[in-house]
Amino acid sequence: MANKKIITKVTTHILQEMKLKGEKISMLTAYDYSMARLLDEAELDVILVGDSASNVMAGYTTTLPITLNEMIYHASSVMRAVSRALVVVDMPFGTYQGNSKEALNSAIRIMKESGVDAVKLEGGKEIVESVERILSAGIPILGHLGLTPQSIHKFGTYIVRATDEKEAEKLVEDAHLLEKSGCFGIVLEKIPAKLGARVTKELKIPIIGIGAGNGVDGQVLVLHDMLGITQKFSPRFLRRYHNLSEEIKGSVRAYIEDVKSVNFPNEREQY
Ligand code: KIV
Repeated sequence: MANKKIITKVTTHILQEMKLKGEKISMLTAYDYSMARLLDEAELDVILVGDSASNVMAGYTTTLPITLNEMIYHASSVMRAVSRALVVVDMPFGTYQGNSKEALNSAIRIMKESGVDAVKLEGGKEIVESVERILSAGIPILGHLGLTPQSIHKFGTYIVRATDEKEAEKLVEDAHLLEKSGCFGIVLEKIPAKLGARVTKELKIPIIGIGAGNGVDGQVLVLHDMLGITQKFSPRFLRRYHNLSEEIKGSVRAYIEDVKSVNFPNEREQY
């Protein structure tokens, strides 16, 4: 009988154990079935259905326009592909800030309609009431501090955050608050590596960085950026593992040429 591989589903508890063992956590974004299937087959630990879908999939310049229904659509597509990775979905802008009852309703809709494992919220002290209310319903939360793209209109720029002492101390306080509230982990985006390492040391929960140095417990990147599908976005923290935009365009050009020259389909490609 052929050996069937046993799939161990990644849980928030497994991430916690990974931190204790010093095993780094790998995380990437996905927004659709086909890509999510590849990431899961490659044995990635965590898939984030990020609201970066607003930029990458829908072409908006910020993450603000994407709706709850659209995030649920992306999350459901991802969930149909995944059997191993932990799947976290971003709660979109406007669904949890300022009103904890609405936050809980939004989180419940996400969990019920997509079947994901957890939600991610941006912010610290200012959203803690929503965090606590969602957690009280048994929904796991991943926090997100540092550069929080949903607040772009407050910051006005995507530059490195928490470079001054006051903002750094606020970030450390917020991180402790999120841990105390019961978040299972925190994403730290675009902050000095030293600060990322400090938060990672001080907190017991896993810290996953994007532009937060290598002293954190894991790394996350936007899939389309690391594969080189997006072309204009080139922050210092981004490592491109491929130049897919050129490969895709090259394949499309070759196809156009074959169609025009009636080189496709050939004898073997027709009935
Ligand atoms: O939406 C997203 O892709 C994110 C990552 C940048 C962490 O939040």
